[in-house]
Amino acid sequence: NADKRSQILTINTLAAKFYYYMLKSEKGALAYHYLRGRELSDNTITGFGLGYSDKYSDSLYKYMKSKGYKDDILKETGLFTFEEKGVHDKFWNRVMFPIMDVNNKVIAFGGRVMGDGKPKYLNSPETKVFDKSRNLYGLNIARTSRKDYLLICEGYMDVISLHQAGFNNAVAALGTSFTSGHASLIKRYAKEVVLTFDSDGAGIKAALRAIPILREAGLSIKVLSMKPYKDPDEFIKALGPEAYEERIEKATNYFIFQVGTLMNEYNLYDPSEKTEFHNKVADMLLEFEDEIERNNYLESVCRTFNIPLDGLRQLVKKKGLNY
Ligand code: CTP
Ligand code: MN
Ligand code: MN
Ligand code: MN
Ligand code: MN
Repeated sequence: NADKRSQILTINTLAAKFYYYMLKSEKGALAYHYLRGRELSDNTITGFGLGYSDKYSDSLYKYMKSKGYKDDILKETGLFTFEEKGVHDKFWNRVMFPIMDVNNKVIAFGGRVMGDGKPKYLNSPETKVFDKSRNLYGLNIARTSRKDYLLICEGYMDVISLHQAGFNNAVAALGTSFTSGHASLIKRYAKEVVLTFDSDGAGIKAALRAIPILREAGLSIKVLSMKPYKDPDEFIKALGPEAYEERIEKATNYFIFQVGTLMNEYNLYDPSEKTEFHNKVADMLLEFEDEIERNNYLESVCRTFNIPLDGLRQLVKKKGLNY
């Protein structure tokens, strides 16, 4: 089994080199143009080992066969589809992103269409060497960062743009939801995380789901808003690294973020909705067992959202007694 794992890793490395070579060849001109069009430098392209899977749907397969690899092991890489009609490359005509583990081993790939085709991204399936819930894109580089926190974003391009802009502590869970496996992996390298997800509803939901998981692991959490831009990639492109750094400095505490998103669900001009909102906030505050901590959050929430301090304090007290 250990032998199989190392064979799969070897094939993945060969595939990454193959895709990289393709990108630099004439066939890869459009893909290279696409990446340069997204403002990635040659250094960045090489640093992340980006590549291109060409239009023929069996180029990689033929290449691996020429190297003497048998179908049995190729099946286990997730890079091919084996059907009665024949074998095909899983990825074709896509820009390729090799996914590395913390030891810089190529464990999987993501591939993006160069236009509006669907699916926008295609990813390797889980294999003997790829466990989605225990790997983070970019961590192989971010682990060497001198900063004591990690920036957590959603996608390949966000990580790459952030690194190119000097934020080499960015990682991504790549569209899959955040797991306790991710959290304990992070815990090995950082005490604090700054969530920098997309500003759409899906990004906010992803942040709300990640928070309790990260809390459980004992990590400090802050949240950034990328508004009015879609994601870190677009934010950096529009406003530059200094503006992003400013957002980090002014990052929102996770609890304030939670209360803020909750507040958006209520019409505070309606007294009964407003009361319900206050009740929910009181319930949330009761989750803090430490009294001083609870009081600090109480004060901060009241200041931020204009809630009368004495009133909410009484409500928390009353609810706490029935606890
Ligand atoms: N994703 C995926 N499959 C899809 C769409 C998204 O695996 N069909 C994952 C990818 O890892 C992607 C991340 O979810 O990077 C975030 O998705 P999205 O915000 O839609 O893409 P971006 O990362 O912003 O990609 P781009 O900027 O290239 O459009
Ligand atoms: Mn065919
Ligand atoms: Mn998104
Ligand atoms: Mn994007
Ligand atoms: Mn995005």
